[in-house]
Amino acid sequence: MHLYIGVYICTMNINDFLPKAYTHTLIDDSVSYEAPSNIALIKYWGKHGEQLPKNPSISFTLSNCKTTTTLSFEALEEELDEGYDFEVFLDGEPEPGFEPKIEQFFNRINKYIPFLRQYRFKIETSNSFPHSSGIASSASGMSALSLCLMQMENLMQPNMSIEHFNEKASFLARLGSGSACRSVNGPLVVWGSHESIEGSSDLYGINYPYKINEVFNDYKDTILLVDKGEKQVSSTVGHNLMNNHPYAVGRFEQAFEQILNIIPILENGNLDAFIHLVEREALTLHAMMMTSSPYFILMKPNTLQIIEKIWNFRRETEIPVCFTLDAGANVHVLYPESHEQRVLDFIKNELVAYCQNGHYICDSVGSGARKL
Ligand code: DP6
Repeated sequence: MHLYIGVYICTMNINDFLPKAYTHTLIDDSVSYEAPSNIALIKYWGKHGEQLPKNPSISFTLSNCKTTTTLSFEALEEELDEGYDFEVFLDGEPEPGFEPKIEQFFNRINKYIPFLRQYRFKIETSNSFPHSSGIASSASGMSALSLCLMQMENLMQPNMSIEHFNEKASFLARLGSGSACRSVNGPLVVWGSHESIEGSSDLYGINYPYKINEVFNDYKDTILLVDKGEKQVSSTVGHNLMNNHPYAVGRFEQAFEQILNIIPILENGNLDAFIHLVEREALTLHAMMMTSSPYFILMKPNTLQIIEKIWNFRRETEIPVCFTLDAGANVHVLYPESHEQRVLDFIKNELVAYCQNGHYICDSVGSGARKL
């Protein structure tokens, strides 16, 4: 019998994220945060309402793949009636291409961050991974920007608790991009309410609250960059195709069950069971894409070549290495640190040939965002 049976789920509601009266005024200054990317083990695919997930998901927070953002602000003489006054820079260069997504984000969070129209903002951002790597920067980027805004709010309301700060940062990040709400904390984050995960919420991500076997503490994720091109189908379009999807109900039920299944695995470190669950989730995600209307395929021939090589290597060596996929062709190779050398040799000898320009990124599980 496990202790997690019958726990309560979180009762926070959106009104808890409306700000209380500010006690301090800010004129001009800047704040900086670094936020990591994350890779889901149980996938979020399907949303409703205002960025609410159809099922709970759980992810490893990464360490090396991250976004660093500095938000500089200057009080305007008069509050704007509409729109926002901001400019965005990527690696020091103006990046107007990011503006529509940030404007949409500001529109969604305006009622929770009511000072957005009172300042002129300069958002300077850079990613540790190449822009063209096919790794989405939306999770780490939206998380870093949300944390900067929360840092501003914290300066205006210094008696805020650290719990509220993190919850609200994740709450805001979700409104920028769903998976971004899992990029505030670490090493394992749950987003989406589930009756067996204490404190879980559809509104923000929480640190996984139960025992984690030490094998997962320094788990490795080597990201094989199979295709660095722009995605043909955006995540938002893909999520929407889960509405009226013939297999959606079954998929959402399965994801709820997978959360139940992963709890003992995370505790006892049963890697055979972990591998089965993680690979099944990755393939189910892509099966949903292939069976929606319109249907689409984000995997490339090299994605399948890599999967087959991983399966052969695992069978021959009994090394517990597995793969997962996000909404693209790149392959995340997951394995315990104790097997790092053997797996890296295998990647260099057998998998690099399937990566675009031989590129891959070595990452591992991390502990969450950091104030700079
Ligand atoms: C396949 O968070 O990018 O990576 O909420 O529309 O911004 P939006 O979607 P996004 O979806 C990520 C989907 C996924 C699975 C996951 O990370 O759980």
